[in-house]
Amino acid sequence: QYRAAIFDLDGVIADTARFHFVAWQRLAKEEGFAIPHVVDDRVKGVDRMASLNIVLEYTDRGYSQAEKDALAARKNGYYVELIKALTPADLLPGAGEVLHTLRAAKVPVGLASASKNAVPVLQALGVLDDFDYIVDAATVTNGKPDPEIFLKAAHALGVDPSLCVGFEDAPAGVTSILSAGMFAVGIGEKDLLADAHEVFPSLADVSLARYFQL
Ligand code: G6P
Ligand code: MG
Repeated sequence: QYRAAIFDLDGVIADTARFHFVAWQRLAKEEGFAIPHVVDDRVKGVDRMASLNIVLEYTDRGYSQAEKDALAARKNGYYVELIKALTPADLLPGAGEVLHTLRAAKVPVGLASASKNAVPVLQALGVLDDFDYIVDAATVTNGKPDPEIFLKAAHALGVDPSLCVGFEDAPAGVTSILSAGMFAVGIGEKDLLADAHEVFPSLADVSLARYFQL
């Protein structure tokens, strides 16, 4: 039996991956180039600046670090604008139920998201209070696939990493969970998340009783 659950946000709890992509698309278009759809998957779990560097692979133009900072801030402005429309209806299937079941069973719940917008997103979805600890992405030195963010969450929850289950939709996130020594549950497509211990299409397909004392 495991003792704590640690969730990624975008693509696991919140249907926000599409907003990240739309914001990057708008930025690229304004800069005079187009990004292919694979960027949607490539930026999943990847922090803001690293995501920008992926986006900039699709243009020949070089940007200074100051210019990149401005581009990242501009993209974030577009993203923040888009997430203003979020409501509890944007919780991904099963997310609300899973969080409430864990709460009722007194299983500690953490959030390990690379997003600096995690708190307002959780607030808009109406599930902020369902988390015992939210890692502040600004304090993470090494992003996913490094285990740092999942280890920070486990430490704050006071649970040994080997007794934690991590939930992720991105390959980099699954690697982060595995390197942290946790049980990895992939949410999404099996071929994309082949390294995870188990993969389910959505949280609605996860049977919590297999991992936790409910
Ligand atoms: C999540 C998303 C990434 C995003 C990152 C940073 O990990 O999956 O696509 O780049 O958060 O988000 P932020 O809101 O801080 O720009
Ligand atoms: Mg994700």
